[in-house]
Amino acid sequence: MAFSPFPLFSFLFRLSTIILAAFTGKPKYTSVFLFGNSYADTGNYVILESPVLSVITIDQPPYGMTFFHHPTGRCSDGRLVIDFICEALGLPFLPPSLAHNASFSKGANFAVTGATALDLAFYEANNITTVPPVNSSLSVQLGWFDALKPSLCSTARQCKELFKNALFIVGEIGGDDIIYLAAYGVSLEEIKETYVPKIVKNISMAVEKLINEGVRTVVVPGDIPTGCTPAKLTLYASPNKTDYDPRTGCLENFNHLSKYRNTKLRVEVEGLRRKYSHVRIIYADYYTPVNQFATEPAHFGFSNGAITACCGGGGPYNFNASAVCGLPNATACKDPSTYVSWDGVHLTEATNRYIATSWLYGPYAHPPILSY
Ligand SMILES: *[C@@H]1O[C@H](CO)[C@@H](O)[C@H](O)[C@H]1NC(C)=O
Ligand SMILES: *[C@@H]1O[C@H](CO)[C@@H](O)[C@H](O)[C@H]1NC(C)=O
Ligand SMILES: *[C@@H]1O[C@H](CO)[C@@H](O)[C@H](O)[C@H]1NC(C)=O
Ligand SMILES: *[C@@H]1O[C@H](CO)[C@@H](O)[C@H](O)[C@H]1NC(C)=O
Ligand SMILES: *[C@@H]1O[C@H](CO)[C@@H](O)[C@H](O)[C@H]1NC(C)=O
Ligand SMILES: *[C@@H]1O[C@H](CO)[C@@H](O)[C@H](O)[C@H]1NC(C)=O
Ligand SMILES: *[C@@H]1O[C@H](CO)[C@@H](O)[C@H](O)[C@H]1NC(C)=O
Repeated sequence: MAFSPFPLFSFLFRLSTIILAAFTGKPKYTSVFLFGNSYADTGNYVILESPVLSVITIDQPPYGMTFFHHPTGRCSDGRLVIDFICEALGLPFLPPSLAHNASFSKGANFAVTGATALDLAFYEANNITTVPPVNSSLSVQLGWFDALKPSLCSTARQCKELFKNALFIVGEIGGDDIIYLAAYGVSLEEIKETYVPKIVKNISMAVEKLINEGVRTVVVPGDIPTGCTPAKLTLYASPNKTDYDPRTGCLENFNHLSKYRNTKLRVEVEGLRRKYSHVRIIYADYYTPVNQFATEPAHFGFSNGAITACCGGGGPYNFNASAVCGLPNATACKDPSTYVSWDGVHLTEATNRYIATSWLYGPYAHPPILSY
């Protein structure tokens, strides 16, 4: 039986953390800034692509069915990990940075669905034609941050003060690079050797840039076990049983790649910590909790399992690339909280809530966001 950290231990731990935080009276985060992809996008993709595309599936029902009760541009049935983090910090949900009428005084969300860690120009130069022509990579998002800054603070001193008390999150990003590379036919071995180091380096460069702006707390999330997603299980189905983890039914090769990339990222984060000892750099682990849900789904209330999507167009994992969630020929399950996967790629609100809790109070962020 797998060790389950959540129920009692986690409750007592959370309680003690909260009490400790209350008594030590450490500073609270006054704002949150996030860079990333669909795991955290709160509307940028829809704003960016509405003038370009006739149908945006993530902007259609049943997206948002559980919490907002209408689509918001979030890739889930409800709240994302970032939304639960904002709630726990007593801050409003982060507005997408491209919203023209929003207030960014409590932070901004630069994440875009499909965003890559490496630049579009890099992929274009290498003829990787499966990367969609949306110019929203990590470095572009950092450019948006630079452009927004004058409206947030006017002197260098003011900006430093603002960023010192802010929580910055860089990631998850890089997962989409791997999706596009694999779709182009680049072998997982070559992705590992050629692209993962570049992805990790660019995430690290982004963190360093922010530190140089005066940022004092940065969360760097890794990736989920991507071999457990209904999309990968459908698109890369193998006739050979040995390609699957017998405990979870997940694809071993993609999970190995995710683990490899996470390990490299974690080593990079440790290097940054040594270099910038005055900065709290937190590695946030998406892999372990999601892998636990896949190992023992019923234990966490996921009675419909971890490798079948709630919303989809049928098939063994309820994922069909030509009838994805948001199209009229896909349907959603009655109770998304009994599934880990929402649409075959992204997680349900119930899953996001578990992950957020484990990052805020432990044990899956190193150190937990709310341990001072
Ligand atoms: C911004 O405008 C959009 C569309 O006009 C509206 O739906 C949204 O609620 C507005 N947001 C804010 C923060 O005012
Ligand atoms: C990495 O990021 C930097 C700036 O943040 C950018 O100039 C560079 O092109 C990126 N590398 C790749 C391969 O996309
Ligand atoms: C993406 O946008 C940046 C500025 O934000 C620009 O410098 C770059 O040329 C654009 N890349 C492509 C491929 O359009
Ligand atoms: C990309 O394609 C163009 C045109 O087909 C070719 O000239 C160029 O050498 C290719 N670049 C790479 C890196 O393969
Ligand atoms: C399945 O994969 C294993 C390990 O790669 C290999 O040894 C075996 O021959 C494969 N079986 C079939 C039926 O292809
Ligand atoms: C997706 O749906 C089409 C049309 O019904 C079908 O031909 C195809 O086999 C389905 N794909 C999967 C993976 O179920
Ligand atoms: C689902 O609908 C889309 C758009 O209407 C269509 O392109 C696609 O072929 C349909 N897929 C299936 C499996 O019926």
